[in-house]
Amino acid sequence: MSSEDFDFGPADRLKGFEKPTVWQEFTPLAAQMQAVNLGQGFPDWPTPDFCKTAAVRAIEDNQNQYCRSAGLPDLASALATHYSPLFGRSLDPDTEVTVSVGVSEGLFAAIHSLVNPGDEVILIEPAFDIYAAQVKMAGGTCVYVPLRPPSPSSSTWSLDWGEVAAAFTPRTRLLLLNTPQNPTGKVFARSELQKLADLVRAHPRALVLSDEVYENLTYPGHEHVRLATLPGMWERTLTLSSAGKTFCVTGWKIGWLLGPTHLIRGVMCCNQYVQFSVATPLQAAVAEMLLQAQKPYMEFPSYYAWLRDEYMRKRTLLVDALRTAGLEPIVPEGGFFIIADTSNIQVPPRYLGESTPASPNPMSRDWAFCRYLTLEAGVAAIPPSAFYKEEHKHLAKNHARFAFCKADSSIVEAKARFLRWRGKDEAGVAGLENGNGKEEA
Ligand SMILES: Cc1ncc(COP(=O)(O)O)c(C=O)c1O
Repeated sequence: MSSEDFDFGPADRLKGFEKPTVWQEFTPLAAQMQAVNLGQGFPDWPTPDFCKTAAVRAIEDNQNQYCRSAGLPDLASALATHYSPLFGRSLDPDTEVTVSVGVSEGLFAAIHSLVNPGDEVILIEPAFDIYAAQVKMAGGTCVYVPLRPPSPSSSTWSLDWGEVAAAFTPRTRLLLLNTPQNPTGKVFARSELQKLADLVRAHPRALVLSDEVYENLTYPGHEHVRLATLPGMWERTLTLSSAGKTFCVTGWKIGWLLGPTHLIRGVMCCNQYVQFSVATPLQAAVAEMLLQAQKPYMEFPSYYAWLRDEYMRKRTLLVDALRTAGLEPIVPEGGFFIIADTSNIQVPPRYLGESTPASPNPMSRDWAFCRYLTLEAGVAAIPPSAFYKEEHKHLAKNHARFAFCKADSSIVEAKARFLRWRGKDEAGVAGLENGNGKEEA
């Protein structure tokens, strides 16, 4: 038999996903260039001691075997206790809480438990790149509504409400919301959530998945509002979050979903056949951490207060570093990413003419800019066009995403490299005055 007689290719549902992702290009590129990696969103400082101690204790206590598929009872109870006051209702740990392998797998289970082939799912762009892939794998159709960056008429990223209303149809099954949002750092205001809720309630089949993985990272003047707390929305919403971002343990992959029994039931059913059981000792540790985090920490009233303060300082450091480079940061309201406007920088034509497996010709300007920055300044960022559908990628041409979930020393080093780059690279400095961003399509 020749090799043509075999079918070694992936199933049809993976068609279109074989191309390398933005992470597969930029993470190795950053390592190869020994760049300061402000690309991927994971903290590069040590995990807090109380988290490490909780995990070690759980392992030493022999909590090392499979556990209940929907989550270790201790964790489900700790989550119900933690979130009941935040949702203003008493959550049932057995039927209204379920544990997942991070938000990523939680989304997969939720989408697979709710979306039938042909159903429509509304994504707000720029959208975390796993959303569209998961919807398509479930046979759903993505309907995209883009956020527009702040402008003289809006101090924050904003939606065109006409476009949002037009996105809802009788086939709408899900709205996939993310607040605080990756990558824009937008925290949806109560008034905006109210408008989204009105549209959801007006469509009998419509439900919401609310990804609130950055729930503990909002900055002064911006309150995290949970969509599920608005009138009539608890029944229609699954809220997702995880330990990774809050406790600086992104490699643990302990996540959870909260919602009404009639929606949680499907996720539990799916997860019996997908994850089967999530890492038991790490679930036990997170149960303990949720208790510990409420207590005074490092002279702050709680771990959460300390965390927010840390990130506010890092945000200020990165804003300053970006301005040094001639970039204009759109200061985020939450989360740990900054989108910066790069239109003042001249991207050398040789970068604009390149192509890579993840970005075949023609390379978009934001992609070329991020390669230029990684290779020549030694600082890695992520091109946000990766978070838009093909027809909307041009909206990101003058943007780059930088993460500030990094040690102060990493951000300070990035600033030093920006300074050297500007001093060294005459084209870049000249470009500060006559950038090419505006001419690019
Ligand atoms: C918006 C958003 N949702 C979900 C995730 C993944 O969360 P987890 O690590 O819990 O799977 C990320 C990680 O970057 C994210 O930015």
